[in-house]
Amino acid sequence: MPEFETLVNPPQEVWDQAVKMSAETDNWNFQSEDYKLWSETYGQFWLVTAVEKGTLNFVASVSLARWDGDDGPLYSIGMFYCVPKYRGLGLCKPIFQTVMDIIGDKPATLTGAVKMSAKYAKVFGFDKCPEHWHVWSDVKLSDVEIPKILSEKYSTKVWTEVDYGALTYYDRTICIRDRKKIMAAWFNLPRTFTRVVSDVTGKIVGYGTIRFVGNKRLSCAPYYADNLEAAEVLLKDLLENIPDWKNHTTLEFLYPECNKDPLRLLGRFAKSKEVVSTKKFCRSQFTKILIPTPDEKVYSLSDFSQQYV
Ligand SMILES: CC(C)(COP(=O)(O)OP(=O)(O)OC[C@H]1O[C@@H](n2cnc3c(N)ncnc32)[C@H](O)[C@@H]1OP(=O)(O)O)[C@@H](O)C(=O)NCCC(=O)NCCS
Repeated sequence: MPEFETLVNPPQEVWDQAVKMSAETDNWNFQSEDYKLWSETYGQFWLVTAVEKGTLNFVASVSLARWDGDDGPLYSIGMFYCVPKYRGLGLCKPIFQTVMDIIGDKPATLTGAVKMSAKYAKVFGFDKCPEHWHVWSDVKLSDVEIPKILSEKYSTKVWTEVDYGALTYYDRTICIRDRKKIMAAWFNLPRTFTRVVSDVTGKIVGYGTIRFVGNKRLSCAPYYADNLEAAEVLLKDLLENIPDWKNHTTLEFLYPECNKDPLRLLGRFAKSKEVVSTKKFCRSQFTKILIPTPDEKVYSLSDFSQQYV
């Protein structure tokens, strides 16, 4: 058994192993570029990792961002992950404690995986939670067929063709905290496609991002719409503007289970309802105040590491 050491904000190659391993074993949906983005767009960012001593061989990670807002800082914990062969050895609790020590008694949030959620609440006070869990639904792209008839009341544009002030205004109806800078950087990432859907008056009624993630999957992150018709038009246009979208493996959404429209959306695009698979995945958890979200508009979370909606 090798020895281990802790590296804070390690070289990119350590992060890249975390992205690859977490996609392979747990279908997580991060990109190589997320590390730089989080480091540059949040007030402060820490990636605490365990590696095999004297090497950059990735063992475990946890990330922490300080997101400053009008209401003060909100800390978000993410990327809590250990490679399977080193799980259960007690390596992860101390790295998690490291980020909790940085947070102190400031407000914090995370999205707790099903098997860990109760522990976060009991041990670290992440006990302010919405009633619902977030569920994960996916469908193989070979089972996707774009519906022939869709609403004519909505149309979409690439996000860069839309007034960013108006898009930010819409985003504030989803996320009450200002994340203008974070989202612009997110949309600008490579292998990332973002479109905005508007009604006939030009009013923005939703937007969606599809990212290429591990194992040739298409991850919808985030995806918001005021109603199902607008969400359908958005998905059609997003897919049709992705080169070779059919050559990818799956299309995925992560959404509050109290919202049934994401499943209806996938049902409309799937060859049959049976080919859509759904599982309970995680829960938003806060230490101090539960920040409300308009769940009926949320078809997919932005990122389940540093964001809560
Ligand atoms: C979650 C994960 C990182 C924990 O790794 P680990 O190697 O089991 O952690 P440790 O050996 O240090 O933990 C020892 C014990 O403390 C628990 N523990 C670890 N971190 C903890 C935390 N932050 N809060 C509360 N309990 C924790 C473990 O569940 C384990 O409990 P058990 O003995 O009852 O099973 C690992 O299981 C993993 O990578 N899972 C897949 C990804 C995932 O679901 N991550 C969580 C996202 S929210």
